[in-house]
Amino acid sequence: MTRPEDVRKTVSTSYARAVEQTKVSSCGCCCSTPATAGVLPMLAGYSPEALASLPADAVRSSFGCGNPVALADIRAGDTVLDLGSGAGIDLLLAAKLAGPRGKVIGVDMTPEMIARARENAQAAGLDNVEVRQGIIEELPVESASVDFVVSNCVINLSPEKRRVFAELHRVLKGGGRFSISDIVAEPMPDWIAAEGLLYSACISGAIPEEEYLAGLREAGLAEVEVRDRLTYDASQLAALLDTDTAGACCCGSEALPRDQLARVTEALGGKVASVRVVGRKPEGKAR
Ligand SMILES: C[S@@+](CC[C@H](N)C(=O)[O-])C[C@H]1O[C@@H](n2cnc3c(N)ncnc32)[C@H](O)[C@@H]1O
Repeated sequence: MTRPEDVRKTVSTSYARAVEQTKVSSCGCCCSTPATAGVLPMLAGYSPEALASLPADAVRSSFGCGNPVALADIRAGDTVLDLGSGAGIDLLLAAKLAGPRGKVIGVDMTPEMIARARENAQAAGLDNVEVRQGIIEELPVESASVDFVVSNCVINLSPEKRRVFAELHRVLKGGGRFSISDIVAEPMPDWIAAEGLLYSACISGAIPEEEYLAGLREAGLAEVEVRDRLTYDASQLAALLDTDTAGACCCGSEALPRDQLARVTEALGGKVASVRVVGRKPEGKAR
């Protein structure tokens, strides 16, 4: 059985490589794809205005599957935590909402991502952003200190999702809320689960929606519900996973052989979805 630390190491190596590729040329690893023009982030739910307000690199280096900050109701003065903050697209958007009295903390395990997020925060002129190195299964964040948790396409990558949900509960203040965009999926055939490349691509680590919601509730979180859902059909999945279109380099994965890609998308079309899950920690629960 693969050890959780080995899974994290493989995922981190994939994302280190992926974010480094975005600076290989001026148009990044998604060169000549729609993603260069910010189309992938727009598909994920970011408005053109929001994207235009950010440094180009933060948009080009985004690897999310939704927009957890949209409609998240982050208030001025809030302390916001981004689990798996990557190159910082959501950190920056949240920092603008939290304002100078608020603070946004990103946690990521990949040094290359952390460096990029810090550069992007500096380029955006935001000094209320702090990025910490750590794992989301053991957050380097004080208990009951956070008003709002966001996360974008990260928890599916965790080999220990229960630990992540428990940590989410621990760091939130009583009454604090969360908005998480992530991938969920129906149970997969063994041959897909065994395809290592699909783990870093946010596919084979994904769990069913009901299991995801139950995990959050079991951790003590309340009012847990899905607000948005985009179920990918076979052609959308192919676009996400095909290095020749846009996705794989934008999802941190390497190229799947053509015939394998066709088998995977045929088997998983209609069974994988991007969801935005919201909820809160009940009042009066410090831990
Ligand atoms: C798909 S990318 C998403 C990045 C960012 N949220 C975005 O929307 O662009 C996944 C990110 O999560 C980080 N990550 C994955 N698993 C993690 C874990 N267990 N602990 C900390 N960071 C993790 C990776 O290093 C990577 O930066």
